[in-house]
Order: sequence, then structure tokens, then C-alpha cells
Amino acid sequence: MRENPNEKKREHFASQFGLVMAAVGSAVGLGNVWRFSYITGINGGGAFLVIYIVCVLLVGVPVLISELTIGRKSGFSSVAAFKTLAPGSFWWLVGALEVFASTLIISYYPVVAGWTLGYVLESLTDWSFVTADPAATFAAFSSGWKAFVAAAAALLCSMLIVLGGVTSGIEKWSSLLMPALGVILLALLARSLSLPGAFEGLSFLLQPDFSKLGVRSVLDALGHTFYSLSLGMGIMITYASYMKKDVDLALAAVSIITLDTLVALLAGLAIFPTVFALGFDPAQGVGLAFVTLPAAFAKIPAGWLFSALFFLLLFIAALTSLISLLQVPIAFLEDSAGLSRTKAALVVCTVATVLGVPAVLSFGPMADVTFLGYTWFNLLDTLANVVLMPLAGFLGIMFIIFRFGVDASLAEFLTGAKKQDNLLARIYSPAIRWIAPVAMSLILLHTLSR
Ligand code: PFF
Repeated sequence: MRENPNEKKREHFASQFGLVMAAVGSAVGLGNVWRFSYITGINGGGAFLVIYIVCVLLVGVPVLISELTIGRKSGFSSVAAFKTLAPGSFWWLVGALEVFASTLIISYYPVVAGWTLGYVLESLTDWSFVTADPAATFAAFSSGWKAFVAAAAALLCSMLIVLGGVTSGIEKWSSLLMPALGVILLALLARSLSLPGAFEGLSFLLQPDFSKLGVRSVLDALGHTFYSLSLGMGIMITYASYMKKDVDLALAAVSIITLDTLVALLAGLAIFPTVFALGFDPAQGVGLAFVTLPAAFAKIPAGWLFSALFFLLLFIAALTSLISLLQVPIAFLEDSAGLSRTKAALVVCTVATVLGVPAVLSFGPMADVTFLGYTWFNLLDTLANVVLMPLAGFLGIMFIIFRFGVDASLAEFLTGAKKQDNLLARIYSPAIRWIAPVAMSLILLHTLSR
């Protein structure tokens, strides 16, 4: 194995709490708020939840562990990590795929992050305008100049945090922002559950309806597990490369999956009772967040305040995910091309801007311009999430099985663990050898056959 010449200089997360907050910050994103609860609702509520938790345990956990061990063992970010653990081979291409995927996502994620930021301000300053016609307001906002400014502001905020470094930037801000997100979530939850008629929303989310379960539900659960834990993008590899050897990876993995799932559930409980209590139809994605919810908030006293809080929550979720994404290509340029952090950030910013401007325009002047039938925004999103992420995830598992070795990965996982014989360690070998490859092939086949 190649020695890591940067080992002495390489920054490390200062505390277990800080690194867990950074990783949870990445995992908790827009998907937790507007996707998880919706797919849970349409797939039979509580029944789906059980399937999701099984998927997290049997597929999410092993892939998460494999990424954490690749990063920490090598002490390098994505591409260099594969080169270090498998010198003289082509496995580094898996890392290259991850860097490519994360760069694509960086160019359109700020667009949505920008909308959330814009809506915090709109709720505070222009509430009557938003509520007069939420659908028209959203169309105007996302196609106008404000969307540009907001996307640029979101990218700039996250870039400044990443430029602060791993400990004083990413760790410090994640440790501040994630607890803040928790507090906001609890406030929204209390408001939502205290609305008369909230019960219907609760039952949409939680009541088990086995008749709605099908093959599709399992695929939905698998796909969401992967997306929700930010796997297949080199994020966990990169973050783990800044973890010290005495970090308990088992504890870190348990915290990440528990908090990610908990936030998704609580967000569902904060949203759906509000939607149902006020007589709206649940929707998925953009429609739910930017149109249905403002309309629902308009009906409650001090709705502007709850709206501002909700979009602040979304902005924090998006910002901490964006930070983790930025760190992937930046660390790649530092580790593999020897660039300074500032130069690397400049390169990434330039690429993100060139690819990102048409992504903003996809909701305005370029709405009718399509590439392979997709708008530019949807093309980037589909390419990254539907093709590159599952492919990199699958190849990452192959790397563990055929090159790094399941036992070597497990040994790294247990280095620093307080309890050597823990549940995750026991699940790991069979799950990564047998279950995860089958599950990832299913995700790939399913998404590619769409
Ligand atoms: N894990 C995030 C979520 O559940 O919303 C999504 C995400 C984060 C996707 C970071 C992609 C990414 F690079």
C-alpha cells in the first residue's frame, strides 16, 4: 500500500460528534423532507417503513461501512483512495465516476438550495404575495433573476464553509447547523400535530396498508436508502479520510443511519398532518414544498413564521449536503492534482457555474430546450442519480469483494470500535457479499429500464 505523504499534514475531524454531524448533514437533505414521507405514504405507510428499515440494515449499512473503511484505511479522498488500496489497477475509475457524479450534482443542487433560501426571505418580507397564488409565485420566482442570485448565494455560502477547512469549516458549521435543524423540526412538529384534523396525516404516514405493498415498494425503498445516505458519490469515502484511527466507525454508522431515518420520519410528521388538517392533497417534490405548503401555512395564524422556519430547515438540509458534495471534487483536486484548497475551490466553482447557469435557465428561458428529451436540469439530475450513483455504488461493492477484501474492510471497521462483536459487524460480511450486490443490480436494472 502506498504511504500517504500527506498523513501528517492531513486535517482530522476533531471529535466524534463533529464528524457524525458532518456525515448526518450530508445524509439529511431535501430527500428526507419531501421524498421520504411521500413514498412512505403511497407505499402503504407503516408497512413500507418496515421494508425501508430492512433495506437500510441490509444494503445501506454495508455500503456505508464499505465507503467509510475505504476512506479511513487509505487516508485519501475518492480517486486517490482507490489508487492507494489497489495500485496499478483500474479501480480508481470508480472514484473518478464518483467525482464526476458529485460535480454534476454540485451544478444543479444550488438551484434548489437557492429556492429554499429565497423562500425564507419571501416568507418574511412578501408573505401576502406568496400566498395570493402560490403556484404562480413559484413559477415567477424560479424563472426570474432572483433564482440566479439565490443559487449563487447558496453556492457561495457552502463554498465559504468548505474553504474554512475540515475542522474549522465543515465540522464547526455542521455541529452548529444540525442541532439548529433539529430544534426547528421539533417546533414545526409541535405546530403540525396540534392542528385539529392532524390525525389523517398521521395515518397517511404510519397506518400499515399491506395492499399497497408490491415489488415497486421494495425498489423504492432500496433506491431511497441509497440516495438518502448519500452513497455512491465518494462523500463518505472523502469524509472518512479525515477520521482518526480511534474513531468508532460502528458508532458513527449507527448514528448516521438512526439520525437520517429519524429526521425523515419527523419531517413527515411535521408536514403531512399540516397538509391534511388544512384540506390539501399531498404531492411529491417541488409541488409539495413550494406550492402546497405555503398554501397550507397561509391558513394558520403566524403562517409566515412557520413558512420561514420550514424553508430555513430545508435550506440548512440542502446547505450541509452541498458542503459534503463540494468536498469531494475539492479533496480530489488537492489529493490527486496537488492543488491548494483555494485553487481547487476556484476550479470547482467555475465548472459548477458553467454547468449550473443552464440549470437555472431550465426553469425559465430554457424550459423548452431539451437534451435527449430532458431539460438541462433534469439531464444532470438523471445522469447523476439514476446512472452514475448506482453504478459507482455497485462497482464500489465489487471493489470490496474482489480487491480490498471483505475481511480487510471489516478489520478497518473494527479498528477503534469499543465493542468488537457488534451487530453491524456481524451483518457486514454476508450482506456485502450477497445481499448488497443483488440489491444494487436490481436498482441499476430498474432505473435503467425506465
Ligand atoms: N442524502 C441527501 C438527501 O437525502 O436528500 C441527498 C443528497 C445529498 C443527494 C448529497 C446527493 C448528494 F450528493
